[in-house]
Amino acid sequence: MFLVKLGGSVITIKGRYRFYRPKAVHEIIKELKKKNEPFVVVHGGGSFGHIKAKEYGIPGEITERTKMGYSVVHRDMVDLNQRVMNSLIESGIRGVGIPPSMFNGDLQEISKSVGDHMDAGLFPVTFGDVYLNQKEKRFEIVSGDDLILELARKLKPSDVYFLTDVDGIYDRNPKKYRDAVLLRQLNDTAKFENIGTDVTGGMLKKASTVKDIAKLGCTVYVLNGNVPSRLNRTESKDFIGTVVK
Ligand code: ADP
Ligand code: IPE
Repeated sequence: MFLVKLGGSVITIKGRYRFYRPKAVHEIIKELKKKNEPFVVVHGGGSFGHIKAKEYGIPGEITERTKMGYSVVHRDMVDLNQRVMNSLIESGIRGVGIPPSMFNGDLQEISKSVGDHMDAGLFPVTFGDVYLNQKEKRFEIVSGDDLILELARKLKPSDVYFLTDVDGIYDRNPKKYRDAVLLRQLNDTAKFENIGTDVTGGMLKKASTVKDIAKLGCTVYVLNGNVPSRLNRTESKDFIGTVVK
C-alpha cells in the first residue's frame, strides 16, 4: 500500500479563495488507479484552508473572532474534501472522508480510523483541518504533512508520494529563483532557503517531514502533481522528482 499527499498547491489555486482544480485531481487519480494497490489519500487545504485561517488568527486562543474562523475554515475544508471525494467516486474508487476535527486532532485516533477503514476495503481520505484543543482552550491546525507522518508510522507503507506544483525539492524556491537546482535526493546536509507564508510551515517543514518518513523505511517521492504520469515513472532513467530513501 502507499500514501499520497495531494498538496493544496496542486488541487487548488493557492491565491484564489476556494478555487478547486478538478481536472488536475482527476488526472492524478487516473495515475493512482494504475498502481493497482490500496492507498490512503491525504489532502492539503490550499486556498480552502490557509487564507481564512490566517485572516481569522487560527491557530490561536478561543475568541469571538477565532470561533467564526474555526467554523468557516472547517466548513471550507469539508467542502474541499467533498470535491476530492466526488473526483474519486467518479473514477470508481470507494473513498471515505475522515475529518481530523472529529477526533479533536488526535493523530493516533485518526490513524486508527484510517487503518480500520482500509481493513474494510475502503480508500480513506483525510485532510489538513482545524481542531479544538480542549486542554489549552485553543483552536489548532493539523496539516496534511503531519497526518502523513503519523499514518506512515502506523501503516508502514512501502512508498509515500508528496505532490506539489513544482518538480520536487530545490535548493531554493524555484518560483523565485530561476537558477534554483532540483535536489534529486535529499540528505542531512542539504540546505535550502525557506520562503513560505503557509500557516502550517512551508517547504522547510515539508523537507524535515519527508526525512522523518524515510527513516521509517519508506521510499518518499516529492513530485510535480501537475505532471502526474511521473507517479508511474519513478523507476525510469529520465524520472524527474526528489527521492528520499
Ligand atoms: P503543498 O502543495 O503541499 O501545500 P507547499 O505550497 O507547502 O506545498 O510547497 C510548494 C511550494 O513551495 C512551491 O510552490 C514552491 O514555490 C515553494 N517552495 C519554497 N521553497 C522551496 C524549495 N526549496 N523547493 C521547492 N519548493 C519550494
Ligand atoms: C492546511 O493543511 C489545512 C488548513 C489550513 C486548515 P496543509 O498545510 O496540509 O495544506 P497545504 O497542502 O499546505 O495547502
